[in-house]
Amino acid sequence: MTSVSQRDSFTGKYGFIAAAAGSAIGLGNIWKFPYITGVYGGSAFIIVYLICILLIGLPVMLSEITVGRRAQKGGFGAYKNLAPGTPWFFSGYMGIAAAFLILSFYGVVAGWTMEYVVKALTGAFSGKTPDEIGAMFGGFIGQTAKPIFWQIGFMSLTCFIVIAGIKNGIERYSKILMPVLLVILFFLCARSVTLDGAAKGFEFLFKPDFSKLSSEAVLAALGHAFFSLSLGMGTLVTYGSYVKKNESLGPLAVHITTADTIIALLAGIAIFPAVFAFGIEPAAGPGLVFVTLPNVFQQMPFGSFFCVLFFFLLAIAALTSSISILEVVVTHLVEDFRVSRKTATIVTTLVITLFGIPCSLSFGVMSEFKFLGANFFDNVDHIASNFLLPLGGLCISLFVGWKMARKDVEDELSNGGTLGTGYLTIFLFLAKIVAPIAITAVFLHGLNII
Ligand code: PFF
Repeated sequence: MTSVSQRDSFTGKYGFIAAAAGSAIGLGNIWKFPYITGVYGGSAFIIVYLICILLIGLPVMLSEITVGRRAQKGGFGAYKNLAPGTPWFFSGYMGIAAAFLILSFYGVVAGWTMEYVVKALTGAFSGKTPDEIGAMFGGFIGQTAKPIFWQIGFMSLTCFIVIAGIKNGIERYSKILMPVLLVILFFLCARSVTLDGAAKGFEFLFKPDFSKLSSEAVLAALGHAFFSLSLGMGTLVTYGSYVKKNESLGPLAVHITTADTIIALLAGIAIFPAVFAFGIEPAAGPGLVFVTLPNVFQQMPFGSFFCVLFFFLLAIAALTSSISILEVVVTHLVEDFRVSRKTATIVTTLVITLFGIPCSLSFGVMSEFKFLGANFFDNVDHIASNFLLPLGGLCISLFVGWKMARKDVEDELSNGGTLGTGYLTIFLFLAKIVAPIAITAVFLHGLNII
């Protein structure tokens, strides 16, 4: 086992929280959460999502960080280290597959945000009606070359930062930019909720109607809890391996989960009142943020400036997430195949970018290419988010709950008895019993078996 001192590490508690929150907070909160909330009918979906976060997301997150720090390895190597000669490491393969799939479509949407920075800078939205702004989005993602150009640009940036390593790359960028995003989101919320007709958006968000809740929606809520918290594919195992031993992991997990959930809810509050005020369809799909927010900015003083800043920060939020996804694969190649960090990063970026091209074309020349009623992009998202991530989460909670000795978990969480672990019993109960049963039940329900 490599000792802590030999490994790169985060400089302190804030560095880790910023990087892990940077991983968690991204397109999932601001682009995906509002759009799937719209597709699945609003508030009832949000309630199920919040239950998933609390009962499943939180214990799985703590399990991941604990395993990573205990093993001093990334998602794949950790299982090999803590349970040598057992098949647990297969879960690491699932994580790597999920990382590939997620980053391939994530890079596409992140590329859209970069195009939107340019659009906002050149005043492309000014004086346009909501319908025209909607048509502009459809026209853009339907093209072949331009979205791919931005996807390649974004993936190159991700590659560049991952090559730089933990302290110089990931941590430095996350620390400064995340708080700025939060401030601008507050401004947006304030404007959106004071628009004429905003009340209906509130009703949509906060007045639950469980009759609208399909079994598919419940599975999507679970999948999104994993996606949004960056769980189930070893990201936080990897990041956990870089946390110093004297940090208390329980409170860290609570902070990250809370920050991620607050940002998603703020994004919902910024978007839905405006959706209703402008007469946009709540179930508009992946374009929801890209169509709604430029309209809100038009109604704000200094709107064009804020619009540029917002899409820029959204691209940065996507970047702090995409580097964590790429890091999963890179850490695996570096640790388990002894490939150099630079080679591993460049090759992985190339392969994932190529795989992302059909995702990008799903809204244009490949839009008729459907499988089980959905396009390539949606299928990749569905398989990774709703299956691979929850399965990875199931494995890690079973591993901590049943495979690791209680005394080892306690030793890791308390740093050999020097930190308080009053939450240990409840954590182990959630990891051992509640999370595995809940994940299994949602799967069976989502597949219409129960
Ligand atoms: N949590 C990120 C988001 O909400 O945008 C996406 C993500 C990052 C998913 C890392 C999974 C992951 F391992």
